[in-house]
Amino acid sequence: MFWEETPKPASLFSNQNNKSYPEVKKEALTCSRCHLREGAQQVVFGVGDLNSSLMLVGEGPGAREDELGEPFVGKAGQLLTKILAAISLKREEVYISNIVKCRPPNNRQPSPQEMEVCMPWLKEEFRLIRPKVLVLLGATAYKGLIDPQGKITKDRGKWIERKGLLIMPTFHPAALLRDPRKKVPVWEDFQMVEKTLKT
Ligand code: URA
Repeated sequence: MFWEETPKPASLFSNQNNKSYPEVKKEALTCSRCHLREGAQQVVFGVGDLNSSLMLVGEGPGAREDELGEPFVGKAGQLLTKILAAISLKREEVYISNIVKCRPPNNRQPSPQEMEVCMPWLKEEFRLIRPKVLVLLGATAYKGLIDPQGKITKDRGKWIERKGLLIMPTFHPAALLRDPRKKVPVWEDFQMVEKTLKT
């Protein structure tokens, strides 16, 4: 799991702990460790302020992200930008990434194996950004990083602490687009995030 210090495959990640962000990103952009890369136009690495105390993790690139090479730039991304604005943050002031970096075919959910294979990249982003708060956007990020059996409907809005890092699971912005009743809980979750970032 994400938090455990597991040995990394030496071939790809040897000496990785000394690598800088540009080095890691450059390597990630040529990754073809799983078959998701075959159906994707490009690897979509994280983006944003490398010194931010807030990092957000979604599921995986959609069509627009695959086309433009940047996470959360489609409809869900535009909503995410508005949600961030509601807590006085610009998109460029946070760091945004995904649990898998290549678009799954037809926007299906990434499988547990695909998430596991891609996880070293997220671990590297996490090591380099070192945020104070991590927001998990949606069930896939929550299950992939915290609890495979977890239920986002039950567990969202509750802080989780891991090694001093504060983690807030919340609904994915795409879920809000499908069901506007989720807006209020997400608003509440981000209010808590804002408050914690200020303390
Ligand atoms: N949904 C995600 O989970 N990530 C993106 O980058 C876009 C949509």
